[in-house]
Amino acid sequence: MCGIVTYLGKQQALPLLLEGLKRLEYRGYDSAGIAVMDGQPVRLMKSVGKISELEARIDPVKFNGTAGIAHTRWATHGKPNEANAHPHFSCDRKLFLVHNGIIENYLPLRRELEAAGHKFVSETDTEVLVHLVEANKKSGLDLTAAVQHALRRVVGTFGIAVLDQDEPGVIVVAKRGSPLIIGIGNDEILAASDVSAFVRLTKQVVYLNDNDVATLRRGDYSIVSIEGPAEVEREVETVDISAEALEKRGFKHFMLKEIHQQPDTVVNAVRGRLLPEEGVSRLGGIEPVLERLKSARRLSIVSCGTSFYAGQYGRYVFEALTNLETDVALASEFRYRSVRFDEKSVVLALSQSGETADTLAAIREAKRKGALVLGIVNVVGSSIAREAGAGVFMHAGPEIGVASTKCFTSQSIIMVLMALLLGRYQNLTFNEGLRILRAIEEMPKHIQDMLDRQEQMLEIARKYHKAKNFLFIGRKYNYPIALEGALKLKEISYVHAEGYAAGEMKHGPIALIDESFPTMAVVPQDETYDKMISNIQEIKARNGKVIAVASEGDREIRKVVDDVFYIPRTLDLITPLLAVIPLQLFAYYTADLHGREIDKPRNLAKSVTVE
Ligand code: F6R
Repeated sequence: MCGIVTYLGKQQALPLLLEGLKRLEYRGYDSAGIAVMDGQPVRLMKSVGKISELEARIDPVKFNGTAGIAHTRWATHGKPNEANAHPHFSCDRKLFLVHNGIIENYLPLRRELEAAGHKFVSETDTEVLVHLVEANKKSGLDLTAAVQHALRRVVGTFGIAVLDQDEPGVIVVAKRGSPLIIGIGNDEILAASDVSAFVRLTKQVVYLNDNDVATLRRGDYSIVSIEGPAEVEREVETVDISAEALEKRGFKHFMLKEIHQQPDTVVNAVRGRLLPEEGVSRLGGIEPVLERLKSARRLSIVSCGTSFYAGQYGRYVFEALTNLETDVALASEFRYRSVRFDEKSVVLALSQSGETADTLAAIREAKRKGALVLGIVNVVGSSIAREAGAGVFMHAGPEIGVASTKCFTSQSIIMVLMALLLGRYQNLTFNEGLRILRAIEEMPKHIQDMLDRQEQMLEIARKYHKAKNFLFIGRKYNYPIALEGALKLKEISYVHAEGYAAGEMKHGPIALIDESFPTMAVVPQDETYDKMISNIQEIKARNGKVIAVASEGDREIRKVVDDVFYIPRTLDLITPLLAVIPLQLFAYYTADLHGREIDKPRNLAKSVTVE
């Protein structure tokens, strides 16, 4: 959700900033802009559309310089046009600023600044920031102090970077509620919303805390708080991401690569965490809070989007394996509920990015009220990872396709491990635990088997991709999979799709069914099978076409439905984590047949850092 990258060093800034922006394009791609400086007047270019369009408009000869800031935008306030694209600039065109986040009190600030003579050229909330900094500089402050003073006036969230023509050796960055990370190179220094923007240059990083203002100089930096003059210390950490992990490696899209990574990402999620000799799992990240977890009574899972559907699956799992009363809430709605927390309450946040603003707000609220907060997060060093009391990393590697795939399976399997760990202190027997572990161990082989048959899904997508609407149905563990399948299809192919609990069909949605409205039914041979078959018959009786995701060897299903994709047999509890793979493939192929921008679907951003 908007990406920032800055460079200050000895190399030409332009190619490094463009490379960084391309890495961050998953965060937003409505428009982009760059400002580069080298003693002469700052050069600025903005463009609507993708980074490649910005790049095409820049003459590299004119944009020489070893310092610069850049931005890729996901519009919140104001349409994606050049005026609203970042960097924004001051009236004297000496200060340039990029911003990720939302300034909630921008209207009164704008009125005040306009009354003082400042001229605004955009509709954005961001522009007030650069004018505030300008006003403070006019009163004689240096850039760092001017930024501190400006940010004291601001309500809202921000990651910002500011360039000042009068202080050519300096870039000032600051953050509150939006991620910002400093990268420390050799006589060069970078900052970005995500380490992937600069990981090729350096793996030495400093994660800024909220309300930090950092002054970057070539090969040097210092950090103060927004409030005070005293310097603060932040640890230098080494990140573990290879530049190769950020490439497509022969796949047409990152999404397809990430679907295909799942045999490996499942292994990475469980590596060192299975103890078959005891029929249990080991999760080092939650060991420090295990006693409290064992005595917990209630678990609330909070998350958004695909992570929310993983949470819905998790609820069935925790209820099946533990004594915990479990509920799952959309993080964005969590604050409106009057949930009572005490020392027996646990809140589990699920997030690929670890930066989702709604999920972050939910865990802050839960912490304030005394709950134990745990996280299952992919991005190490992210805000949720740092704010949760304890947690488990997915180790899935960077997920770059905007549509989440591999992290759905990773976070789901980690919930199984968590529930197994807890359940073994409660009623779950050694043999039940062992059966789950064995099923987990077989998952990579099963997933690979389905990926080897992906052409079957391509054929099914060819047959149905022209349908304007789709229904996805499932029961119990597979109900969340139906929801996830529908979300995948709509977000990347723009085909309308709804996920429903199959039992709900006759309470309304069956009215939609006719020969042009196909249904994808997740119908493995588990305890829900007979009821699912009845639901499918009801659809067939109304001329609806049905594609089944069914258990290998189920010959009967062919007599009932129009098309089948078989999934390997495993425990009922693990089946949905296999069933989701063909649904990911179906969404992918349908979107590809429509010629969609699969890795960057319209209107979306990977990391939603605004509420
Ligand atoms: C859908 C998708 C989104 C995210 C949601 C939460 O494919 O990717 O729905 O799942 O924005 O993101 P995280 O997991 O980063 O908190």
